Amino acid sequence: MEHILEEDISKLLEVKRFLQSIIDSIEDQIMVVDREYRILEVNEALLKRLNKPKHEIIGEFCYKVLHDLDRPCNIPNHPCPVQETLKTGKASEALHTHFKGREVTYYRVTSYPIFDAEGVVQHVVEMARDVTKWKKAGEKMHTMQKLAALGELAAGVAHELNNPVAIILGFVDLLIEKTKPDSKEYKMLKSIERQGLNCKKIIENFLSLTTYQVTGEYSADVNANIERVISVLGNILLTKNIIVEKNLEKDLPKVRGDPVNLQHVFINLITNSADAMEGGGVLTISTRLNEPGNRVDILFEDTGHGIKKEYRQRIFDPFFTTKKVGVGTGLGLSVCHCIVSNYGGEITFETVSEEEDSEKKGTTFTVSLPVIPSESE
Ligand SMILES: Nc1ncnc2c1ncn2[C@@H]1O[C@H](COP(=O)(O)OP(=O)(O)O)[C@@H](O)[C@H]1O
Ligand SMILES: [Mg+2]
Repeated sequence: MEHILEEDISKLLEVKRFLQSIIDSIEDQIMVVDREYRILEVNEALLKRLNKPKHEIIGEFCYKVLHDLDRPCNIPNHPCPVQETLKTGKASEALHTHFKGREVTYYRVTSYPIFDAEGVVQHVVEMARDVTKWKKAGEKMHTMQKLAALGELAAGVAHELNNPVAIILGFVDLLIEKTKPDSKEYKMLKSIERQGLNCKKIIENFLSLTTYQVTGEYSADVNANIERVISVLGNILLTKNIIVEKNLEKDLPKVRGDPVNLQHVFINLITNSADAMEGGGVLTISTRLNEPGNRVDILFEDTGHGIKKEYRQRIFDPFFTTKKVGVGTGLGLSVCHCIVSNYGGEITFETVSEEEDSEKKGTTFTVSLPVIPSESE
């Protein structure tokens, strides 16, 4: 008899260990509380986050342990799913935002009821999952969509400007015909014409760069798009004393990507290089096929001030900028990253900061895009 009892107990213990190992293997943070919010059980993942031994937590109030409060949580914008489940007897869910210094983390918290024989909620299981990665990816997408909308708006404005500029140029032409070439008025009209043509050119270039012309194309000629971007930015770079050197490999295969989006990436990288070369410098743009021949690499090498060590981890973060308010948005690189990874490409950088070596200072960004296999072009 005693023997049988011992066997049963050891079997029960085995089952208990098995169940515990199941909940400990789950990476979501799990906690079971009773109706008074006392913690009855927790898993390893939660202990790890709290950084406390289990015996210090079991039997304590969850609001004390998790939020250091003396009564059940009532934090604005921080609804407690456990309270909800106790009230309604139904599963509940909430998104929690945690701030720790400058860092923000997001948790998706869900709770499930456990009923007694009478159907009354006795316990609540709460599960929390760190969803920071997904949330940030979602926000990035949102930013991209906003930028796309803005681009469309800007393109619309440029398009609207086309007609008035054409009319101005038309009338100027008429007046020029009626004016004596050696008069003061003639010179003025010629000047209006020149500036008008300038406007026309800017509008055309701008239109060619915006979503207005998105063709839904999915293959791009890298060199042609680099040339086009340089032709648009060339003048601005010149006025900033920046020399552009080109090293474009001939007969490159086409890459995956919408030309307009890729131009967007190139413009962002060139603008960043220009910003880093205050007072002038050299920007070398090179293209080449990689060794196995499955990717085209595009390198933007500048002689700017480089990126300080402490910034390197963060430059791709949305809204990270070291520039003055109104100059930088901190969106350039995160948009580049979004676009490039959309096509299965990569964007990397190497840098030597001014502080490290003022002779060799500079940054090289490399965009690497998959080649489109020739039969599917
Ligand atoms: N070529 C570069 N040289 C030096 N710093 C750079 C370069 N490109 C990017 N950075 C750094 O990365 C930051 C983020 O760039 P980005 O996302 O384009 O935003 P923004 O240009 O609006 O600041 C910049 O503020 C700058 O500090
Ligand atoms: Mg930028």
